[in-house]
Amino acid sequence: MRCQQRSVILYGTLLFLIWNAVLVLFLRARLPDQGTKRVPNNDDNTDVVGEVLHVADMLEKELESQKKILMQIQKLKPGRWAGQKKKLKPMLPPDPVIPVLVMACNRVTVRRCLDKLIEYRPSAELFPIIVSQDCGHAETADVIRSYGSTVTHLMQLDLADVVVPPEHKMFQGYYKISRHYRWALNQVFRSHSAVIIVEDDLEVAPDFFEYFRATLPLLRSDQSLWCVSAWNDNGRQGFVDPSGSRLLYRTDFFPGLGWMLLRELWEELEPTWPAAFWDDWMRKPEQRRGRACIRPEISRTLTFGRQGVSLGQFFDKYLQYIKLNSDFVPFTQLNLTYLKEDVYKKSFQKEVYDAPAVTFEDIQKGALEGGGPFRLQYSSKDSFKVFAQSLGIMNDFKSGVPRTGYRGVVTVFLKGRRIYIAPPPGWTEYDPS
Ligand code: UD1
Ligand code: MN
Repeated sequence: MRCQQRSVILYGTLLFLIWNAVLVLFLRARLPDQGTKRVPNNDDNTDVVGEVLHVADMLEKELESQKKILMQIQKLKPGRWAGQKKKLKPMLPPDPVIPVLVMACNRVTVRRCLDKLIEYRPSAELFPIIVSQDCGHAETADVIRSYGSTVTHLMQLDLADVVVPPEHKMFQGYYKISRHYRWALNQVFRSHSAVIIVEDDLEVAPDFFEYFRATLPLLRSDQSLWCVSAWNDNGRQGFVDPSGSRLLYRTDFFPGLGWMLLRELWEELEPTWPAAFWDDWMRKPEQRRGRACIRPEISRTLTFGRQGVSLGQFFDKYLQYIKLNSDFVPFTQLNLTYLKEDVYKKSFQKEVYDAPAVTFEDIQKGALEGGGPFRLQYSSKDSFKVFAQSLGIMNDFKSGVPRTGYRGVVTVFLKGRRIYIAPPPGWTEYDPS
């Protein structure tokens, strides 16, 4: 072994010397007619130094061109642009991987959720599906396993009842959900920097992935955003603009129900993650800290889970009627900079408060003139509730924020007209009381 090693070194050194000699001879022969930058000098030493500098210069140039060729080769390597058919975009960073975390428990209908995710995802590499199962339900586990390696199946193994105050016995389910969320997010964020969370009773729209792929850079660059959600709480048929599938908003109300967050946010929330009611906990000012989510005009998720932990609290009245977007919007090709806080705040404010004020009676009688938009002013939580109830949109507040609200404004689309239900001009903050 040692002998072999020595001869390798010997041959190597020899080759190196020969290479250098050839190089010097070659360059010497070429130097005079290369128009060298060397200053003519009688001093022989300076001459040698000049030549060495020149050789170094040429070597550097050669190295530079080799590097360029190497980079071009790398760009052509298959796999680097996985999921981007034919669309070579040199010099752009590769698409990020965004895993979809599916939260499952005991619903075999998780199949409906998984089938749609698999059908619509543009790339298995860029959008790996991780199903995290709580509850230890064997039939549901079988369904998940039937997808083989198409999905990763995680099991949350702590199935014991959570110890809760006696008056919270009926909320055991909410405690388990919260425990499961903490566990699953800790798993996924070990190896990923962004995640889309989907619950097992959600069905996704054809452009679900396109939507999240396009909004990830916004979420990363705008510190005043903390999530992107696929859900419009007031997204019922008849309350949204049917031709508004490209329309996106900012909202101060955390919508959940198909949403993306970054690892930094998880690191911030995890240490104080609540024992139960995690979504309402997130809506509190201490967690939200003035941050907004992006949400669409037309939902990219639909819920089919009537029999849930919250026992269909809102399902029959609202959730089952949410319109799921059906056409594919190429969000990654659209300019979404209008959603950046400074731009958005200004133009939204102007749009809302430049709109003519109308009364609830005007709306009811169908006495609105012109195409809109219109502004319906509310003066208190109670007056908002009355309007919302009568119009048929969700009327509840969480920590003082109405559903879909942005700076107190809730937008609906009724009979072909945009209506902003808005507080008086000069709004400054929500009242969480
Ligand atoms: C509602 C919310 C849901 C939120 C939950 C917790 C709506 C429509 N749904 O749940 O987004 O997460 O409150 O505040 O607003 N699950 C477990 N372990 C369990 C039971 C359920 O992991 O022991 C999972 C389910 O698989 C599902 C999720 O938790 O993914 C929500 O459960 P679900 O039964 O659908 O409750 P909702 O009433 O919809
Ligand atoms: Mn549910």
